[in-house]
Amino acid sequence: MPATCVVGLQWGDEAKGKIVDLLSDDHDFVVRYNGGANAGHTIVWGSRTFKLSLLPTGILKSKVTSVIGNGVVVYPPRFLEEIDQLLEAGVPVGANLKVSDHAHVIFPYHMEEERVVETAGDGGAIGTTGRGIGPCYQDKVGRRFAIRVGELLDPKHLRERLSYVVPYKNRFIHALTAGGTHTSKSFDPAAIADEYGRYAERMRPFVCDTTRLLHDGLKASKKILFEAAQGSLLDVDHGTYPYVTSSSSLPAGIWGGSGVPSKVLTRTIGVVKAYTTRVGRGPFPTELDDGPDGLGERIRRIGREFGTVTGRPRRTGWLDGVALNYTTALAGVDEFSLMLLDVLSGIPELKIATAYDLDGERVTHFPSDAHVLARCTPVYETVPGWTEDLTKCRKVGDLPANCRRYIDRVAALIGVPVMVASVGPDRDQTIPMQ
Ligand code: IMP
Repeated sequence: MPATCVVGLQWGDEAKGKIVDLLSDDHDFVVRYNGGANAGHTIVWGSRTFKLSLLPTGILKSKVTSVIGNGVVVYPPRFLEEIDQLLEAGVPVGANLKVSDHAHVIFPYHMEEERVVETAGDGGAIGTTGRGIGPCYQDKVGRRFAIRVGELLDPKHLRERLSYVVPYKNRFIHALTAGGTHTSKSFDPAAIADEYGRYAERMRPFVCDTTRLLHDGLKASKKILFEAAQGSLLDVDHGTYPYVTSSSSLPAGIWGGSGVPSKVLTRTIGVVKAYTTRVGRGPFPTELDDGPDGLGERIRRIGREFGTVTGRPRRTGWLDGVALNYTTALAGVDEFSLMLLDVLSGIPELKIATAYDLDGERVTHFPSDAHVLARCTPVYETVPGWTEDLTKCRKVGDLPANCRRYIDRVAALIGVPVMVASVGPDRDQTIPMQ
């Protein structure tokens, strides 16, 4: 049975949640396969705004089964908080939510480990979201200290595991701070076992073997929508390493992160913001770092470009055709959605990077190593902007001619057709382009 993936083609925050929300009615499962509560999905339904960071966007549709796959790292307090928020808003959450027993669990010592290295002030910071994502994935691949969701459900086993893991973690975190000016916390295995044991009891009804659930779904001809977290340029293998997240945010993460085989995926929708943003550190060739009265600040203000998870101001810049060509090829994109076009209204001229200057040579490939990308300066093509407010546009014919030209130019640069253009956060501010 065919499956679809929605994937961001930049550094995250491309408004993937809106596209997943639009498509979820046509699917039986919406599956997250990577990341954790570092993602931020904002979905606007009329006067209601939902902000999710861990639960799949499909949770807003009760007839869809939302799945947190084995490739996700789960912070139980956040999982339960998001459920409570939805229940308070009258959104049903019950048998429509499943979390993999193989997903890995984030503990307070993961966050502490991250805090210690991120705040050491020695130039090694990545600018992470501080959600313990990296240290949890480190433990997963290191195998000795990781604990999976299924293990939470057995109180005796959990207590034993924590009594082995936590002393190591305490020694490790203290060693990281030794000799420095920072102090670190010590963790008590019994207290964590008590706390996580309580979370486990509330999580129990949601936990299952999600791989089998999805395999059974495929056998019954059910349709699956995969929801990537973060953006392709944050992918741990192919992104701007080391300024990336710790999981595979490309569709390549699906097979490992959900257990669904690659041949099932038949449609990949890339999501692209009409400009570029990035949170955290790392090179960003088309960044508009032009001061408080500059275009970068204007885009940030109009686009409300502040992190959903951390509230940090996002760095803003022009669209980068070189990066988009790279991620379109990596993700195997069939069609794309162009988001937040309304934010660009009133800018007389828009720029799109079509090549880079790298050490005096013009290149059109994307050097994903951060230290090489940092030496690239963009070669721009300038296109005319538009003055009209787009937020009332509902069909292609409503869009100003220069906006249609901009969309066509982006489609030509990326080399795949555009599915929808988005001119505002609401569902009806979405223009079908095909
Ligand atoms: P981490 O995922 O918290 O380890 O952060 C690693 C990098 O990925 C940092 O630059 C974060 O700002 C960035 N990042 C992680 N999740 C997101 C997201 O959902 N949107 C945008 N950037 C993200």
